Amino acid sequence: MQLNAEEQALIVGSFRALAVDSPAAAACFYRHLFRIQPETQHLFVETSARQGAKLAQTLQVIVGQIGNWGLLRTTVGDLAVRHLAYGVRAEHYDAVGEALLAMLAERLGPLWTDEMRCVWDKAYDGIKAEMIACAYIAEEAEPTEL
Ligand code: HEM
Repeated sequence: MQLNAEEQALIVGSFRALAVDSPAAAACFYRHLFRIQPETQHLFVETSARQGAKLAQTLQVIVGQIGNWGLLRTTVGDLAVRHLAYGVRAEHYDAVGEALLAMLAERLGPLWTDEMRCVWDKAYDGIKAEMIACAYIAEEAEPTEL
């Protein structure tokens, strides 16, 4: 997943605008996620403030590595493997992507543009594909004991 300099700048700029109030952005994200796929709610055991802080921190790492796919794919691959223990399934990733875009649109308001939507969509798709490949496809491809 390669983004050109202009695409990277759109991601970084929109993330900076979100970071002005990251607890509100996190709360907005979870509200959308639980509306889109209510059954994901039972997977979360931590308090929403702690979850929100972790999510904001990781998004910051991801955005910081957006221009270095070699590094980013390792970061998100490790993250995806940890998500197996949280009970997350491959089909949950679409709802999370939808919630992410809905949160960005709501929080950025008039700053949110079609170009931003396209580039976040492309970035999330690349990250999702890598996470699913690391955590699920590799798992399924594991040779079974005879
Ligand atoms: C790009 C996609 C995602 C990112 C950046 C992300 C980020 C994170 C982070 C940073 C944590 C904290 C724990 C850790 O670092 O291992 C976490 C935990 C968690 N995530 Fe994700 N996540 C993603 C996708 C998903 C998806 C698709 C689901 C499915 C609903 C999900 C559900 C959870 C759950 C249930 C936890 C554990 C929280 C708890 O114990 O309350 N995540 N996630």
